[in-house]
Amino acid sequence: MLVLGIDTSCDDTSIAVYDGRENKVLSNIVSSQYQFHQEFGGVVPEIAARKHAENIDIVFNEALKVAGITTEDIELVAVTRAPGLLPALLVGLTFGKGIACWKGIPLKGVHHIEAHIFSSFIGTSPQFPFLSLIVSGGHTLIVLVESFGKYRIIGKTVDDAVGEAYDKVAKMLGLGYPGGPVIDRIYRNYEGDFLSLPKPKVPGFNFSFSGLKTAVRRLIEKGYVCEQIAASFQKTAMEYLIEKLKRAIREFQVKRVAIAGGVSANSLLRQTLKRMETEEGLEIFLPEMEFTSDNGAMVAYTGYRKFLIEGGDSLNINAVARISL
Ligand code: KG4
Ligand code: ZN
Repeated sequence: MLVLGIDTSCDDTSIAVYDGRENKVLSNIVSSQYQFHQEFGGVVPEIAARKHAENIDIVFNEALKVAGITTEDIELVAVTRAPGLLPALLVGLTFGKGIACWKGIPLKGVHHIEAHIFSSFIGTSPQFPFLSLIVSGGHTLIVLVESFGKYRIIGKTVDDAVGEAYDKVAKMLGLGYPGGPVIDRIYRNYEGDFLSLPKPKVPGFNFSFSGLKTAVRRLIEKGYVCEQIAASFQKTAMEYLIEKLKRAIREFQVKRVAIAGGVSANSLLRQTLKRMETEEGLEIFLPEMEFTSDNGAMVAYTGYRKFLIEGGDSLNINAVARISL
């Protein structure tokens, strides 16, 4: 079954073609808008929606071309319907509904976080249960995944998401947007001593990142150099994520761990988890780099799996800005 996967939840217009039977991504096109949001230091919903509307047709045609198929070959449309920026979500959902209606093929609405959760398994099949650490610009969650559709959120951020903290710290340091890749690069090249930053004390498996931001502001005021602050921030933020994750692994006695979201591209996080795989006898699943940030392939993969279990959705499904897993 050939599946079209569409994601316009934030600032990337992405469409993929996925072959469900072969479990293979045939194309995954992403048109990033970050340069249009850069001057605002974050994503502006109205600009995002306008750019999605301008680009979606181009991205769609490119996805078909790279996959070597035509519209006639598509057999299922999977599209992110929630959560995200409402005007942005609506562009992708309306486009997906249009194709499903025009071609008389089924439509499957996908939860964006659910799609991220399975991004490490594109091309393979997950074994359950596993722990998922979802780290992006909008979310920081630890989820116990028991099957497709059965999720238990065991920890989440009480304030900023980790990617958001990266972006805010980068803005304070004058490093531009998005902050994650720049700070990560600085960390990789840094050879000096690290500054000590406080790790926020939040009960259980929840996270807090706003205190780290304040600590960074103080270090800037004290005149420490940008590279030392950025590298120390990354070290502390990643240690904090790993400490909570390790506690969750112990508590829930799980041997499989997957990570997902834009911050799962982080070199320190990936390296640490790979080390844990051998040292602690875990099975670690890291998404391919192209599937760490928002992409249509994860939506197609998840939509296809859920379609096999639940069937399609009505063309009346709506976009929802905020909804739990
Ligand atoms: O998942 P994503 O593409 O978009 C959503 O938020 O849904 O995540 C984007 C976030 C941004 O905050 C960006 O700074 C962060 O991921 N990011 C990283 C890295 N690459 C992207 N954070 C840390 N290290 C990275 N290498
Ligand atoms: Zn995302």
